[in-house]
This record gives sequence, C-alpha cells and structure tokens, in this order.
Amino acid sequence: MIKKISHIAIVVPDLEEAMGFWVDTLGLRLQHVEYVPDQGVDVAFLPSGESEIELLEPVEPDSGVARYMHKRGPGIHHICFEVEDITAVLARMRAAGVPLINEEPTIGTGGKKIAFIHPRGTGGVLVELYELTAEEPARRLERLNDMRRRLQRGRRVYAAGIIAFLSGLRTAGNGQSEKKSAATKQRGSEV
Ligand code: CO
Repeated sequence: MIKKISHIAIVVPDLEEAMGFWVDTLGLRLQHVEYVPDQGVDVAFLPSGESEIELLEPVEPDSGVARYMHKRGPGIHHICFEVEDITAVLARMRAAGVPLINEEPTIGTGGKKIAFIHPRGTGGVLVELYELTAEEPARRLERLNDMRRRLQRGRRVYAAGIIAFLSGLRTAGNGQSEKKSAATKQRGSEV
C-alpha cells in the first residue's frame, strides 16, 4: 500500500542559496520548479534515486509555510509517502483515530492527490500522502511553463539559479562548474 518515500520537504529562506548546498555541493540535480499559489511557495524538486528532496521557499509572508519558518526556522517540514490508494489509507487512519489535516484528498503539486496527517497523530512529524495520477507529468510541465511565462512577464524577481534553470541552462546536470558559471552569468539579473 505504501510504495516509497516520495519526498522529504525542507523549508528554506532562499531557494538559490539552498541550491548552493543541495545542487552545487551535494550534487543533486534540479529537475523541476513551480510556484504553488494556494500554499504561497516556490518549490524546487531535486531527485535522489526514487525519491526527491523538495525545497520550499515561502514567497507570501502570511502563508502557512512562512509562519512555520518564522516559528521554527528552516529545516525539515514534512515527509511524503507515495501510496497506491489514498482513499483507502485515509479510511484506515480515520478508523485508527489518527487526526487528519485533509479528510479528503486534495490536488497538490503536479496534479497528484494529496492529504496531510496531523503531527499529533504521528509523534510530531507532518506526514503527507500522495497518490500518483495519470495527469501528473502533463501537470508538471504545465506548471513549469507557467513559471517560465511568469519569468518572461517579469512578475517576480527570481533567484539566479532558477532563472538559469528556466532558461534551460541548468537542466543538463553536467559539470558543477558549468552550472555555477551559468548561474553566475545570470546572477543579479532581475526579471
Ligand atoms: Co510535499
């Protein structure tokens, strides 16, 4: 029923700065970025084997994630498990009296069906469940293109590394010096 750890989400004050460690130093590859309006966060996905590190930068000061970071500081925010049948898992949680943040699955990043279990029921860890849907790859691409359009329209000031990634300079994941120079070239550009 539980397929794998989908991702471990980490709240960071600044995606670009965070990628200095996770990408340039540790060597993970930036695979996807998107803005999630209902959570007020920019999200970067960095695959590691079958799982991903999900970096969350709160970009709206009154969002839940922003409040979390303000209270607790940066660090691990939640752990997400991919499950086969999210409705069945939620039913099992309810039967066991585990408090749920989402009684019903909602649509999360990339179009996946997600639900959060309250940390009260897990010993202090915010746990996300997600069920992959067939539309997810298309949704991800849509969100990525949306981010590119926002970039072109100059809606926000993006971090240099994200600009490089969205411009296709950071997708190859080749040498770290190449990535660094690409990011450096873009550094300081405001769009
Ligand atoms: Co998540």
